[in-house]
Amino acid sequence: MRRLLPLLSTKPHAGGRSALTCRYRCGDACFQEVPNTSDNEYAGDIIARALSRRSMVRTAAVVTVASAAATVPVLGAGTGQAVAAPLDQRGQRPGGGRGPDGARGLRFAPVAPNKKDAVTVPSGYSQNIVIRWGDPILRGAPTFRAERQTAKAQAGQFGYNNDFLSLLPLPGERGRQLMVANHEYTDEVLMFRGYDPEKPTREQVEIAWAAHGLSVVAVQEERRTGRIIALSRHPLNRRLTATSAFEMTGPAAGSPLLRTSVDRSGVRVRGTLNNCAGGETPWGTTLHGEENFNQYFAHGSSATDKRYGIGTGPSERKWERFDKRFDVRQEPNESHRFGWVVELDPYDADSVPRKRTALGRFKHEAAAPRLTEDGRPVVYMGDDERFDYFYKFVSSKRMKKGTSRAAREHNLTLLDEGTLYVAKLTGDSPEYAAGSGTGALPADGEFDGSGVWIPLATGDVSHVPGMTSDEVYVFTRLAGDKVGATKMDRPEDVEPSPRTGRVYLALTNNTDRGKPGKPGADEANPRNLNKHGQILELAENWDDPASDGFAWRLFLVAGDPKDPQTYFAGFPKERVSPISCPDNVAFDPHGNLWISTDGNQLGSHDGLFGVATHGERRGELKQFLTVPIGAETCGPVIQDRRVLVAVQHPGEVDGASAQKPASAWPDGPGRMVRPSVVAVWRKDGADIGV
Ligand code: FEO
Ligand code: CA
Ligand code: CA
Repeated sequence: MRRLLPLLSTKPHAGGRSALTCRYRCGDACFQEVPNTSDNEYAGDIIARALSRRSMVRTAAVVTVASAAATVPVLGAGTGQAVAAPLDQRGQRPGGGRGPDGARGLRFAPVAPNKKDAVTVPSGYSQNIVIRWGDPILRGAPTFRAERQTAKAQAGQFGYNNDFLSLLPLPGERGRQLMVANHEYTDEVLMFRGYDPEKPTREQVEIAWAAHGLSVVAVQEERRTGRIIALSRHPLNRRLTATSAFEMTGPAAGSPLLRTSVDRSGVRVRGTLNNCAGGETPWGTTLHGEENFNQYFAHGSSATDKRYGIGTGPSERKWERFDKRFDVRQEPNESHRFGWVVELDPYDADSVPRKRTALGRFKHEAAAPRLTEDGRPVVYMGDDERFDYFYKFVSSKRMKKGTSRAAREHNLTLLDEGTLYVAKLTGDSPEYAAGSGTGALPADGEFDGSGVWIPLATGDVSHVPGMTSDEVYVFTRLAGDKVGATKMDRPEDVEPSPRTGRVYLALTNNTDRGKPGKPGADEANPRNLNKHGQILELAENWDDPASDGFAWRLFLVAGDPKDPQTYFAGFPKERVSPISCPDNVAFDPHGNLWISTDGNQLGSHDGLFGVATHGERRGELKQFLTVPIGAETCGPVIQDRRVLVAVQHPGEVDGASAQKPASAWPDGPGRMVRPSVVAVWRKDGADIGV
């Protein structure tokens, strides 16, 4: 008899997730008190000084951005003026004999919302499983056997709950690419038959440690289609887990705040945890956000523990019984060594991944880099919590081109020196002033305004009065509180457009917005009790790399298009797919934005959508696929010939367990439900959506 269910909250999750997902993925984050209780709407002396110092610069910057944006095709109000005939149910124009209509790259018949226990794809497309949880990827690792799983086997096998995905070139290896995957969290109830959450065994705990982390796996392409499969052997195949060696680098490395009884240096860390989304750098490495790390730690007590959501009692998985580093009473600084952005060099199987302290510590959803015009990396980052913040890091060093050893070594230091900023956004529509918004489109026709990047620290110099630079990096949330950053609706994945440079930030939802005692709707977060989320579009002034001003507007306000409180960049709403809870975002080779969802609130399973961001079809959103029962769509990668998605936590619904599965995906009834990576491609071998 399992004792789990009575302990689970029966409250429906704000974003539509099951209680099981909430418990194991985020440590029930949405049922806890909002950790951000700061009163930072008050523009105190620090901010007043900062703003007055910059006001001239900022005004100039925003004007420049606005005029630059005006040169991009079909922007500004009335973006939906391209009025084409409505699509029929197959996504085709009535009477037209051609294939599906749409922006180039999005010419497919949209998938209808549904609740099938399958990955459903458009007509004319096919799919294959690239790799499953437990598939061996290292020499000597055994074939997955659910009933005989061991920690040793798991350490050589693909981890659990795949999230972020990256496909990188493998020069000299024709038809192959290198896939990098995150394994965000484990769900022991679905992994182990008869799992007792009050009495996990050491073997179960060690399997979970080995199922976390990252995987590097070479994949082989099929010549005639976009199908790819993972290779069980390759010199670059690699697993990094909750116990592998990692190194802290950057300005806070070695800080007393990062030292423990085991590591007096404050530099050497075991493991990475809760890797959610990530990014690819222009110099050939990958970035991985450590998100809900708080849930693995027990017996927190300090104010900073509270701000990061570390509970005062035992942890859900009880790891503290097996390794004292997870007990904050015994190792108060161990939790400070998680919540960072990890940089991995997947081309060097012996490299030690680095946790980059210059990028700050919070619940990192993702880290998306681009270069300034003078070649310095900028990394955009969201802190996925209700009412938390949006950040960027600007390196002080320029990237070196080429693949020489010297260039690679130099580029591996780019994320250690620079300035960390947090965003403050101001709307321009008076009806949204002072948190009084209603969700209605403002009278000026757009949810938009200007913003300022507030510097928090540069190297060893803190810009936050009352905090040292080490404190700014290790307790970045508190630094954001002090400088009056804008409280956002769960900033998740972010991606700069490779075509326009504009940056897109997914804000998943926030049903606490506007509740008594909580901030009300503002122009960037325009709905109270926000169930469906929105996507923000930001334009930087790239002519001036030192600029700290930006312009922003909402690109999408998600939901049922019939709901008047939705907005699709001005595109006619009768021609778009319903969408709820945008989470991961990625660009295709044509400049369209692809959006995966987490927690659909419209009665369908989660899915993947494509939307044009420029041209006459800007805002035309179409659903490309849906995922099975209980699953979330993660890690989308859109290449010319394939779409790659991570199907995370299939079957994770209330009441489900390993012995009583709620899904038969991917291998049919009677088989273990296994998170897996799926490739989708056109049966005729042509490119996606053309
Ligand atoms: Fe792991 Fe914020 O999703
Ligand atoms: Ca406005
Ligand atoms: Ca996510």
